[in-house]
Amino acid sequence: MDDWISVEAPKALERLRPTLRARFGGKERRWAEFEARLGEAFEGIFRGMHRLYGWRYDFAWQLEAALLAAADAAAEREGWLRNRDGVDDGAWLEDPSIVWAMTYVARFTGTFDRLPEAVPHLQSLHVNHLHLMPPYDVPEGPNDGGYAVSSYRRTRPDLGTIDELRDAIKELDRAGIGVVLDFVANHTAHDHPWAEAAKAGDRRHRDFYLMFEDRGEVEAYLPHLREIFPDRGGDAFTWRSDVEGPNGGMWVWTTFYPFQWDLDYRNPDVLVAMARELLYVVNLGPRVVRLDATPFVWKWPGTTCENLAEAHVVIRLFRGLADLVAPGVQFLSEAIVHPDDVVRFVRPDECELGYNPLVMSLCWEAVATRDASLLADALATRSELPEGCRWITYLRSHDDIGWGFADEDARRLGIDPAGHRAFLNAFYAGEFPGSFAAGARFQDNPKTGDARISGTLASLAGLERALEEADPVAVDLAVRRILVLDAVMTMAVGIPLLFLGDEIGRRNDRTYLDDPGRADDNRWMHRPPYDWDGLEAAEEGVGPGAAILGGLRRLLAIRTASPAVAGSLPEVEEAGDRAVLAFRRRGDGEELLVVANLADREATARVGVDPRWEELVSGEPARPGPLALEPYGYRIFRRVVRSPV
Ligand code: GLC
Ligand code: GLC
Repeated sequence: MDDWISVEAPKALERLRPTLRARFGGKERRWAEFEARLGEAFEGIFRGMHRLYGWRYDFAWQLEAALLAAADAAAEREGWLRNRDGVDDGAWLEDPSIVWAMTYVARFTGTFDRLPEAVPHLQSLHVNHLHLMPPYDVPEGPNDGGYAVSSYRRTRPDLGTIDELRDAIKELDRAGIGVVLDFVANHTAHDHPWAEAAKAGDRRHRDFYLMFEDRGEVEAYLPHLREIFPDRGGDAFTWRSDVEGPNGGMWVWTTFYPFQWDLDYRNPDVLVAMARELLYVVNLGPRVVRLDATPFVWKWPGTTCENLAEAHVVIRLFRGLADLVAPGVQFLSEAIVHPDDVVRFVRPDECELGYNPLVMSLCWEAVATRDASLLADALATRSELPEGCRWITYLRSHDDIGWGFADEDARRLGIDPAGHRAFLNAFYAGEFPGSFAAGARFQDNPKTGDARISGTLASLAGLERALEEADPVAVDLAVRRILVLDAVMTMAVGIPLLFLGDEIGRRNDRTYLDDPGRADDNRWMHRPPYDWDGLEAAEEGVGPGAAILGGLRRLLAIRTASPAVAGSLPEVEEAGDRAVLAFRRRGDGEELLVVANLADREATARVGVDPRWEELVSGEPARPGPLALEPYGYRIFRRVVRSPV
């Protein structure tokens, strides 16, 4: 088969060349650029399209349509972006100074045109990549925080126009802050023009979605599917009487909320249409596109319909087509699944970047159990990625925290996975005696016993309760707990990602309960409006926010000046106490040794340092002998090493 493709692909390219060239309307330089990239990428695109759709009568036509989408986007790409493409070869991934943050425009500056006003604050946190949560047009009422997209070509009117979004992206980029934008590959909103056309009886668009006439057809899938949002009641299928069908309606596949209709990528028309939307987003100017819910995009009966091989092919096709238009733009994979599956999406020909939900959740696991073993094990055994790829390391996002460690890893350390997850849920929901956390269960599923956790960094780490109880000792401990978690996030692996607001200790926000579009989704408790007054107070040195901000800035200053963190893996070592996480990072003429006590008691760590090492948090020279760490204490030792010749 492969041989056949390597013979056939160049012929197909020859046939397509004149049609593609015509799209550039005489812009010869652009065509030359495109043609050169096509030479590199064409065979891969051909292979992917053939793998998914080679059996179809319209295969050649669909292949052409996909390439035309890329040619049109390349012909339209703005000059400043093409200049950036010319220099942006992804080498920035090797830079230790990369720091990410995420926010909702509506809850941060309110509108696109005010985003540049936030630049000084972002720069004070060393942030140079900003994920703007989906700013696209959404249905009225519930829209899953923007993840039900009605159109990529329009923005939410309250934020500003699409041109204002473009301008803001350009202005931020000029200020050294690359924007990250979402592409929600798995579904559209139920009022997307394609969905509306399907409702109106248009056959072509009905085939964009997964629709079934009767319940019987759904049975081939249902027993194998995970329920992502069990709270919504029912299952992954929604009966829609507004779609014409022989039984007075149709069942529509809706993995997430009923208003998010899953797309059917088994239909090449969908792949091509979505590629056009993706390339439109790419041309808005982001440096990174976040591919939402990557594991879900391909469905076969009798499978879990997650992480299928074909889902990877879809992503490779998106990657290949985007490479033709904007080779410098990176993809970020959002795969919150078993760690073996998470890592498979992070490779140079799919997503160069991947969220690291394992380290995220195990940071929380460690401070709940006062035991860093699972976290250390994950860092030691599951950090490696293909060349040129990076983890995005975070402590929480806009989503819930799920306990996604591998059962087999837990068992290897003598931990019962199900019991452990039950404990962690109880702990972070604040139900467990002695728990410091003020989180809440998200999507508690009585059938399976599964649940996940909502809450801000500060509330989950104990600051909310401590302040409520007006207990200064507990407040101090909570601040230290936050900072030791920040230390792991900034130094252990990958690129750190901050959720804006956490840097000043923002606590849970319960006002979402008054909003009917949000009241049944408690992830809104950890998506509060940005507290600009709180920032001012923290800057003036007032309250726990000041201590968190100061400590985090110190960590980020250390991180961004440490070449060793750029390309190296953490080398985890035994420090003689289960509460202590210790690891080295080596590279570029320096060696770092990070030691962090994840418990609320004192700990003693065995570390081999001597006065040649400097301790970066305090700035003092290191002393040999056992290291006494206060509760949640951390140290970052550094020494210069001569590079091997
Ligand atoms: C992603 C988003 C999440 C959303 C889901 C459905 O997981 O992060 O917020 O609910 O996709 O689009
Ligand atoms: C599940 C999905 C993930 C989604 C999350 C939203 O974990 O795997 O994609 O973000 O649910 O709660």
